[in-house]
Amino acid sequence: MAAEPQQVVGAEAKRGAFSSRKVFILAAIGSAVGLGNIWRFPYVAYENGGGAFVIPYLIALLTAGIPFLFLDYAIGHRYRGSAPLSFARLRRGAEGLGWWQVGICFMIAVYYAAVIAWALRYTVFSVDEAWGSDPEGFFLGDFLQVSEPGVTLEIVPGVLVPMLLVWLAVIAIMVAGVQKGIGATSVVFIPVLVLAFIALVARALFLPGATEGLNAFFTPDWGALTEPSVWGAAFGQIFFSLSIGFGIMITYASYVHRDTDMTGSGLVVGFANSSFELLAGIGVFAALGFMAQAQGVEVGEVAGGGIGLAFIGFPAIISEAPWGAFIGVCFFGSLVLAGLTSLVSVIEVVISAVRDKFEMGRVTAAAVVSIPCAALSIALFSSTSGLHVLDILDHFINQFGILLVAVVSMLVVAWALRALPLLQNHLNRNGSFKLGTTWRVLISVVTPIALAYVLIDGLVTDIETPYGGFPGWMLGVFGWGAAGLVLVFGFVATLLPWRKDTPMDVTADEEVQE
Ligand code: ALA
Repeated sequence: MAAEPQQVVGAEAKRGAFSSRKVFILAAIGSAVGLGNIWRFPYVAYENGGGAFVIPYLIALLTAGIPFLFLDYAIGHRYRGSAPLSFARLRRGAEGLGWWQVGICFMIAVYYAAVIAWALRYTVFSVDEAWGSDPEGFFLGDFLQVSEPGVTLEIVPGVLVPMLLVWLAVIAIMVAGVQKGIGATSVVFIPVLVLAFIALVARALFLPGATEGLNAFFTPDWGALTEPSVWGAAFGQIFFSLSIGFGIMITYASYVHRDTDMTGSGLVVGFANSSFELLAGIGVFAALGFMAQAQGVEVGEVAGGGIGLAFIGFPAIISEAPWGAFIGVCFFGSLVLAGLTSLVSVIEVVISAVRDKFEMGRVTAAAVVSIPCAALSIALFSSTSGLHVLDILDHFINQFGILLVAVVSMLVVAWALRALPLLQNHLNRNGSFKLGTTWRVLISVVTPIALAYVLIDGLVTDIETPYGGFPGWMLGVFGWGAAGLVLVFGFVATLLPWRKDTPMDVTADEEVQE
């Protein structure tokens, strides 16, 4: 039987809500546009064929990214709960999928904060170009003091302090709540971020050699399209970057008014995110083109790929380019703003789930979730072994966390629960962009097949070749172990009972309201 509308409205007011569609869209863009766009996309593109990467990326966006964004929106908006609660309301047995996503978010938050902290420190370093003539030696040696692969407990104060600052800011936002914390932060940060980033890209485009960089970025290398790993990287990037498949968009959609046009909002968010990502690619490659020209080498040779591209490649550019400090502050400042508005969305997935499940106020839940997460994050990443652990966690949580849960949830929702027509009707009721058969075919057949293929290929590669050349025990603990732990956690968490006043039969559809 359906719950009383009155009761639902009261419960929703207690859970928190965005005050308008505009705030929701800004918060969703704030979540999507993050380190994934500025820090991760350029190096993933760089490592996967440069220009060739744009094609699988756009195909992944249109066939998997936007359709899956709609799926997340439909589940959260119709069932009006955190990821576990929304899945439980869809079908009791599906709750574990939501907790699995909550576990993934916890892991992401743990390492995501570290990269924001590096960016915070580098915003200050940019002012006087503290890295001198050796950005690589400075980043790995002076700044992170990277140890040999392994785990150390040697704390680096230069990383610890910005990490503490990042976590304090995050906890303050989380305590303030959905509208006053997350919503208000996005409303202020996103316009500042867009302005800073446009200024940065405009500056980079006028550097001598920028055209060479852009040619490297946009020249398709059709050969790379035959490599499954390039497709895997494109799908992984789209899911991470759009904040889909790990509970964020389910949670945010649950905070949106019932009559909102969710498909129109989704298109705005999806295209804003990818535009920002391509803009970041353009800015970074224009700057790399400048470096290549200055050093008289090919664009592909100027900067090492990987995690260090932003923190090694960019400082090198800042040192060489006219107005270097300006470029540096815009670039690293943008990383901080983009990162914070995403990190809060990642943690909100955990907080909202804890609040739905247990009898807990906003402040208590924010503390119960954020403090242990901050403690683990600081312990792991302010030590000299942080970079290695981060590299492994990021790779495994993306592949065998986000992508895996995405395939499983599509198959469960489409085939076991046969819920796609219901969810499609829900979105079409107020949506300005109507979903048809194509959407159902993409979610039930095309995207699961494509994702399963890249996952199996990734699994075989990771079994055959130790990722990044790391020792087996490190991959076992921080890679396979972490990805396995969140999966097990997902199903164990379903054993705990729901708080008594959480109704299980809530939907936002006409059959409830009428
Ligand atoms: N979507 C967020 C990002 O791109 C997590 O960084």
